Amino acid sequence: MEYTTLGKTGLKVSVAGLGCGGNSRLGLGTGRSEEEAIAIVRNAVDLGVNILDTAANYKTEELVGKAIKPLDRESLIIATKSSFQKDGAFFTADQVIASLENSLRELDTDYIDVFQLHAVPPKGYDHALNVLAPALEREKEKGKIRHIGLTETSPRDHGHEMLQRAVHDPVWEVMMLGFNMMHQKARQKVFPPAIENNVGTLLMFVVRNIFSQEGYLANTMRELAEAGLVSADLAKSDNPLDFLIHEGGATSLTDAAYRFVRHQPGVSVVLFGTGSQDHLRTNIESIVSPPLPEADVAKLHELFGHLEGVGLDLPDRSQKKA
Ligand SMILES: NC(=O)c1ccc[n+]([C@@H]2O[C@H](COP(=O)([O-])OP(=O)(O)OC[C@H]3O[C@@H](n4cnc5c(N)ncnc54)[C@H](OP(=O)(O)O)[C@@H]3O)[C@@H](O)[C@H]2O)c1
Repeated sequence: MEYTTLGKTGLKVSVAGLGCGGNSRLGLGTGRSEEEAIAIVRNAVDLGVNILDTAANYKTEELVGKAIKPLDRESLIIATKSSFQKDGAFFTADQVIASLENSLRELDTDYIDVFQLHAVPPKGYDHALNVLAPALEREKEKGKIRHIGLTETSPRDHGHEMLQRAVHDPVWEVMMLGFNMMHQKARQKVFPPAIENNVGTLLMFVVRNIFSQEGYLANTMRELAEAGLVSADLAKSDNPLDFLIHEGGATSLTDAAYRFVRHQPGVSVVLFGTGSQDHLRTNIESIVSPPLPEADVAKLHELFGHLEGVGLDLPDRSQKKA
């Protein structure tokens, strides 16, 4: 495993982080048992992963708590989240603190390393900054939270509108954003100011459905070609990104997806979600592999650098069969 510093938190984190949400939810989302999900967490830690990302909303906090119980808590970085809104109403500070207290109970721990506001929409940012952040800072002073972060609502905020504001406000130490081979605008909009302000970044939507589900990429490419957003040639192939897989290059589409994002300057941690022991192992191998060949990276920039919002499905749009 390789480790890096998570921006101004100063935390030493593994470059591969285990996502405990997404469609997999450690495998619970695809019909695996609680024991199997616990084994995913423990094997990830055995393989050197020290950062685990969960959320009240994922319903995996209790399981993560059980998985880490026999482990050395101090060696782990636990990130979790409070929801930001319900039925269109933004959470009050009291609701966020109640969520924090519940997370501490579920995770069976005394503190959260990175506490995040989950899926903050651009129109909610003022509320997050002016109402919720001060309440979180008070919890930080009490020692219940070590660092404060927020996540964007990628499927609805394709242009990173919220994070482009948040990245300049010092209270946020960590930001989670969507970034992948066909959704690259963060290269201009988020990473340069994140580097400048020393904000730690966690990546989501790196593989999701588009780079893991049979046929999904080809269908998307056809839609993009019809809309005039990519060349018609790309739409003709059933495996349009196969040019990335060659001797000295990527070994698979998911390998390409994880390696492309990992080496982007400004990226701290690549989160990956899985319920499969095989994927756990191969994803970590990919994330610690060298960059893709320069020519392949340049081609991905050229072909897709202008796209926004590709591959950012909401969980309920998953095509995955349980
Ligand atoms: N707004 C937010 O705050 C937000 C939103 C989305 C995600 N997140 C966080 O980001 C984490 C990662 O996002 P994500 O779950 O979408 O992860 P991801 O790594 O982009 O995609 C995971 C999907 O790809 C499959 N997969 C993983 N490795 C594979 C491989 N080697 N070969 C084939 N298929 C593979 C997984 O299924 P298998 O189980 O079969 O491996 C799963 O369906 C989440 O767990 C969560 O912690 C946060």
